[in-house]
Amino acid sequence: MLKRIAVLTSGGDAPGMNAAIRAVVRTGLSLGAEVFGVQHGYAGLIAGNYRNMGDRDVGGILQQGGTILGSARSAEFRTLEGRQKALDQLAAQGIEGLVVIGGNGSQTGGYELNQMGFPTIGVASTIDNDLVGSDITIGVDTALNIALEAIDRLKVTASSHRRAFLVEVMGRDCGYLALMAALAGGAEAAVLPEIKTTAEAVKEQLIGQFARGKTNGIIVVAEGATPTLEELMAYFKTDSPTAGYEIRATTLGHVQRGGAPTAFDRILATTLGSGAAEKLINGERGVVVGRIENKLITTPYQDVIGRTKGIKPEIYELAQRLAR
Ligand code: F6P
Repeated sequence: MLKRIAVLTSGGDAPGMNAAIRAVVRTGLSLGAEVFGVQHGYAGLIAGNYRNMGDRDVGGILQQGGTILGSARSAEFRTLEGRQKALDQLAAQGIEGLVVIGGNGSQTGGYELNQMGFPTIGVASTIDNDLVGSDITIGVDTALNIALEAIDRLKVTASSHRRAFLVEVMGRDCGYLALMAALAGGAEAAVLPEIKTTAEAVKEQLIGQFARGKTNGIIVVAEGATPTLEELMAYFKTDSPTAGYEIRATTLGHVQRGGAPTAFDRILATTLGSGAAEKLINGERGVVVGRIENKLITTPYQDVIGRTKGIKPEIYELAQRLAR
């Protein structure tokens, strides 16, 4: 049994991270361990920026977006020297294991420390939902609901003006958010990194829908898609091909990351965070804790890092079929 563990959040913040921190801290304390919060991700791990957390330190955070521990993307930690400094700090403070709450890059950091002999365990958390090892990751549901609220609003104003809106949602390498926002928002088209398309193909889709009497067009574009929102906008502006629609563009960006977590994200984060703390304290290491087919599942780092979970093509087909 480990007696002193630490927890950090890393990479892009995700709504529900606080619920996961709370679950790690209180589970750790309930099992008789001391729990330390590391400030600002791996940068704080290197700097020795740790604080002892009690039950009350994580009170009132379940319902808050963001992360009370702060997050960062640390260039120094990507070097061997940086990771060695982190290990020295952990040793100096007598910490025996670490919970890493984050996405792909963050889990790679946990893997590296684990390879160097320090016990780590991951909690699957990113709004991108691109992490292998969990059907759904912490923050996705909230981000999706924020995107949907924006799309619903855009549809109203688009309809009043007979406009088509290009709406960019987050997702560098993965079109999950864009696809699900398109499906649940009744969008006219989705442009994703995983599916090859062209501005011409999007134009043809819009023209067909306009001819069938649509009064608005919502084209959800993933951040990492080709063509990009800018390329699409440039094409539509110069080519004026949209059969009557005026075109506008909206980028949702970080708005999607700042919301209070939904019930789904609070519950997901609570179960994954608690599971991770319990497993780490009981000697499990080198895995990411996620949820697969409604069960808490651990997946070895080797099967998670450096990989990207794709979208389901049949969901794309469904969104396309219904966009009439
Ligand atoms: O990985 C989460 C994410 O929000 C991506 O969707 C996005 O590409 C990236 O982070 C943005 O990073 P930053 O917050 O550093 O601008």
